[in-house]
Amino acid sequence: MPGKFGKPTDPDYEARLAEFEARIARGEKIEPGDWMPEEYRRQLVRMISQHAHSEVVGMLPEGAWITRAPSLKRKMILIAKVQDEAGHGQYLYHAAETLGVTREEMLEALLSGKAKYSSIFNYPTLTWADIGTIGWLVDGAAIKNQTMLAQCSYGPYSRAMVRICAEETFHHKQGKEMVITYAKGTPKQRAMAQDAINRWWWPALMMLGPHDSDSPNTPTLVKWGVKTKTNDEVRQEFINEHAPEILEAGLTLPDPGLRYDEATGNWVHGPINWDEFWAVVNGNGPMNKERLEARRRAHAEGAWVREALAAYAARRQQTAVAV
Ligand SMILES: [Fe+2]
Ligand SMILES: [Fe+2]
Repeated sequence: MPGKFGKPTDPDYEARLAEFEARIARGEKIEPGDWMPEEYRRQLVRMISQHAHSEVVGMLPEGAWITRAPSLKRKMILIAKVQDEAGHGQYLYHAAETLGVTREEMLEALLSGKAKYSSIFNYPTLTWADIGTIGWLVDGAAIKNQTMLAQCSYGPYSRAMVRICAEETFHHKQGKEMVITYAKGTPKQRAMAQDAINRWWWPALMMLGPHDSDSPNTPTLVKWGVKTKTNDEVRQEFINEHAPEILEAGLTLPDPGLRYDEATGNWVHGPINWDEFWAVVNGNGPMNKERLEARRRAHAEGAWVREALAAYAARRQQTAVAV
């Protein structure tokens, strides 16, 4: 799609930018092939590909428990959930491809360690209760972000989000049901649920991104309708929904500073350890190396499938020509 991605040095940039921003202000969607600033394209490729990688890497911590699920029902739910995440990765890679980036380029960026994915998936799943907690907190945080992105100005991303959110809602409900069941179960189950909440609460808050004051991309993304809320606004929504529900289930939260503020109607949280967040983002979380190794191994082991598909496509094309 050459010529569609405008640069500030282009002679007609200012006029086209004004037209582009007016379309967004009117609530129109920007579609593949439409004129857009190169910076809008760059930010979207970054966000959508990171999001796609997160869905795919996100299968690993939960996939590790499929063989150890405590019942057939729980196993079937978990298999369905992990499979959904693979589908989310597919929708999102497709959405990014509409911006002129190839699947190979995106995968290469992931496998070489250049691309980022959500920090949360670099934490280990130590007990079965982690699976319910991921559904409740991690999918819960993802839904807050994705509901916002379903309103975004880029058509393919927005439509992918609408479909994905429907499935995430199921992931969220099954996680919540599981943790509440264990919270009301035997002392051992209750301790396991509490331990999982203790370990996942802070990483779930962090996965919604740095504070607005440390998020330099946010103003541009809000102006162009990619984000309609800031990281801190989405985080506040997440806490307001989840903190009272977790307390209601008879569990506690690992934040001595957490309190309900009557004046604003918000649950106020204590300071977040951003050093931990940046360490994980920069490759030094507990599971970063294992996650990347698992993806590299899966990619290498899947080489024969890609080769077979390419050979099949080439043969079909030859047959079509012969006919
Ligand atoms: Fe997902
Ligand atoms: Fe999910």
